Amino acid sequence: MDGFKLTWSVVVLVGLLVTTVNVAAWKKDEFRRCDQSAFCKDTRNREPGSSNLEVKDLKIADGVLRARLVPSDAGGGGTTEQGGGGGEEEGDLVLEIKAYKNGIVRLKVTEEKHPEKRFEVPDVLVKDLEDKKLWLQRFVEKDDGSSMVHLGGHDVILQHKPFQVHVKRGSDLVLSVNSKGLFNFEKLREKKEGENWEDRFRTYTDSRPYGPQTVSFDVSFHGTEHVYGIPEHATSLALKPTKGPNISSEPYRLFNLDVFEYISESPFGLYGAVPFMLSHSADKSAGFFLLNSAEMQIDVLASSWDTTPSIEMEGEGGSSKLLENGNKEKIVDTHWIVESGVFDAFVFVGPSPKDVVTQYCAVTGTTSLPSLFSTAYHQCRWNYKDEADVAAVDAGFDEHDIPYDVLWLDIEHTDGKRYFTWDPILFPTPKEMQAKLSAKGRHMVTIVDPHIKRDDGFPLHKEASSKGYYVKDSGGNDYDGWCWPGSSSYLDMLNPEIRSWWADKFSLSSYVGSTPILHIWNDMNEPSVFNGPEGTMPKDALHYNGVEHRDVHNAYGYYFHMASVEGLLRRGGGNERPFVLSRAFFAGTQKVGPVWTGDNTADWTHLRVSVPMCLTLGLTGIAFTGADVGGFFGNPDPELLTRWYQLGAYYPFFRGHAHLDTKRREPWVFGEPYTTLMREAVHSRYSLLPYVYTLFKEASVTGVPLMRPLWMEFPEDISTFERDEEFLLGPSLLVHGVYSQGATSETVYLPGTQKWYDVKTGATYPAGQKVNVPVTMDGIPVFQRAGSIIARKQRRRRSSTQMETDPYTLVVALNSTYEASGELYIDDGKSYDFEQGAFIHRQFKFSKGRLTSTTLAPVKTGSKVFTTSCLVERIVILGVRAKDLAIGKNAIVEHDERRIETDIGPPLLQRGASSTALILRLPNVRISDNWSIKLV
Ligand code: GLC
Repeated sequence: MDGFKLTWSVVVLVGLLVTTVNVAAWKKDEFRRCDQSAFCKDTRNREPGSSNLEVKDLKIADGVLRARLVPSDAGGGGTTEQGGGGGEEEGDLVLEIKAYKNGIVRLKVTEEKHPEKRFEVPDVLVKDLEDKKLWLQRFVEKDDGSSMVHLGGHDVILQHKPFQVHVKRGSDLVLSVNSKGLFNFEKLREKKEGENWEDRFRTYTDSRPYGPQTVSFDVSFHGTEHVYGIPEHATSLALKPTKGPNISSEPYRLFNLDVFEYISESPFGLYGAVPFMLSHSADKSAGFFLLNSAEMQIDVLASSWDTTPSIEMEGEGGSSKLLENGNKEKIVDTHWIVESGVFDAFVFVGPSPKDVVTQYCAVTGTTSLPSLFSTAYHQCRWNYKDEADVAAVDAGFDEHDIPYDVLWLDIEHTDGKRYFTWDPILFPTPKEMQAKLSAKGRHMVTIVDPHIKRDDGFPLHKEASSKGYYVKDSGGNDYDGWCWPGSSSYLDMLNPEIRSWWADKFSLSSYVGSTPILHIWNDMNEPSVFNGPEGTMPKDALHYNGVEHRDVHNAYGYYFHMASVEGLLRRGGGNERPFVLSRAFFAGTQKVGPVWTGDNTADWTHLRVSVPMCLTLGLTGIAFTGADVGGFFGNPDPELLTRWYQLGAYYPFFRGHAHLDTKRREPWVFGEPYTTLMREAVHSRYSLLPYVYTLFKEASVTGVPLMRPLWMEFPEDISTFERDEEFLLGPSLLVHGVYSQGATSETVYLPGTQKWYDVKTGATYPAGQKVNVPVTMDGIPVFQRAGSIIARKQRRRRSSTQMETDPYTLVVALNSTYEASGELYIDDGKSYDFEQGAFIHRQFKFSKGRLTSTTLAPVKTGSKVFTTSCLVERIVILGVRAKDLAIGKNAIVEHDERRIETDIGPPLLQRGASSTALILRLPNVRISDNWSIKLV
């Protein structure tokens, strides 16, 4: 959040609603440590092997394996200890094991007696998931006291006593649950006399009316040393151990919080939570997802954390004995501690990292295909002051010949922080303002936060309160918290009726002053409450159907985001793609819209950590992400700002943003040479939009993110497993940021066996090693992979919409056998007609001196068509044989025997670059046609 985040009492004391005081830094003490939370404190120190549940009454019903989990002895270590052993009188735990197509196993443990009190998160799983269910037929009971279900390619082995689950792919053990004996499910129970369930932190008391209900367990990832995922934390890509010999760190916390001036390198929870962890090693990847929106704390356990004897388990047929022998086997153990809800877990068996992400997205959804304009550059600031300021910024981009697509208005544009309104003095003619942007093909975004000003003169508040649409406090009154507008209430977005009511508020008639080019920004939806515990809503606040906020906290922002997106969908009659940026997120957010990494700081460490943060989001399905370019807090000097533009041009979501207190920093403010450098950085993004959009299409189908760790494309290369200062954008571009002042060279690791081409100069660098790349302020190191073809649009326009009919440049980067291939996806960039076949999907191949273009679209794709008359105006071939790199070479368009002029030059007309590319000028073939061009 921002410099205004003072506690409620301080706010009252100084009598300020808005202040520009700059508070020093992250206030660690305002946030709970594990040992300050009743649910986490004791559970974290549970002894391995303390769970002694056993499996009873195993059967298959409706294609699902079902059993009861009961304590093996009266001690009942596998359920609650406080609960007096969790004996039969408390009701049993019910275990279900299900399988879905393509390597997905679901394990669920619920409480038999209180299903209504143990919250199960709705609206996260894809609607057709049950259609992919595999119908389990039989299980094999084995002599060793386990049962096995064979699922074609993978097996689930359920050990009965003690209860353990092992998932194998082929004969390879990939993941185990409770093999360390930490599974514990605290059953709901009556309060004993004299018992106090309250949980206090600072001045806050959580009444905890339902008492302890923690679900905790261990998950072991076999054959690996690296785990990733579980955003959001400002930390490294490969998750560092948090517990073990000589390690004492907080666990990774998943609890959506508005953390003022967060620091990089910390396991503390930030704005969003995705309880999905992946493991990766040279020969396998696996994943584990827990569908649960309560607070959780996750320890990554260092090797030797557990000195207890190893647990042995008989393998299939008793012939191959699977041994978990602690330190010897490569294994990462993790311990998950969840405050409430149920154990509803999905295991993904890989085997490749892309498979794991695809399997996870088959369960929670893929990134929805964004509008083309939203993949271009966005200009934001808290705040563009008034309509004249908006006009001046808009004109500034044109004057300095810098493209941009979207101008954003932050909270000050409203009438007193009442969302859906405009300040009558500063923004008297919002429709006209939007019309001017629209005339240039540009769009606008306004902010709509979830806190509603408690002002009886505000119709939205009156209606919400009279309808009883607000979240209630533990006493049953509308919860009243403090946020930007002062006293505020929060809509209960868990309730579908309220989400639908909210969605209607985005109609053009309801949102007065809005026009169809206006899109939305949802902020503060963790939810942020300045005077609440840890800056959020109390856990004992109440939602729809009596659900406690404790249960739904991490998904609150997701429901709010979902309702806003539904609003824009309705506004567009269901056939315009909405754009709604959210700060809070949960598993499944990718189906709804993009997120950004919140309030970072204008310093080099935040520039650097933006890469692992965005990579992690991508690995957990949320492909459309970025960080505030320039850093939100503080004033970047022109060098840092330039480096941030150069890196941000490769974030999937590319937006400049700044805090209210900062100095202006539009890309021309610092003058030359910086204006030129930032112009080139922004232009580099625009020229890549055809490639970026094709990658978004891929993400929307498979879930595979745009921004990829190197090991996603080179899974066997162990030297990439901890590398997070560079990344791949799609399969073909490698990007390495410059993260320090005055850098003159960067050490870049280039994976694989094929060389890499500098995108600007065409210079080649060898693969499979670190190379020293000289850098100037002209750019950061970016390379195209040998063997790839990338489609670009090189002409500089004002916005992406004005590039629609522009011709393409194809950059063909040949590998050692003088071959290359690539894809291009095109549609109208704004509607859902592509779902009815209105798209073009091309494949380009270069082989034996011939470049061919063929379609990848199915023959009969649907009822609608998309056509374009765009031409290819240039083909740049990198890495041709020396004899081909000679003036006077010819190229022929084969179907009409047309001869094309060739030339030798730098790939992207870069000043001073060496001439290493063969350039075919004006081939003028249509991008949508089948054709071939041969070098002769
Ligand atoms: C929050 C957002 C930030 C925004 C500010 C004012 O701090 O994270 O981006 O500018 O609120 O709305």
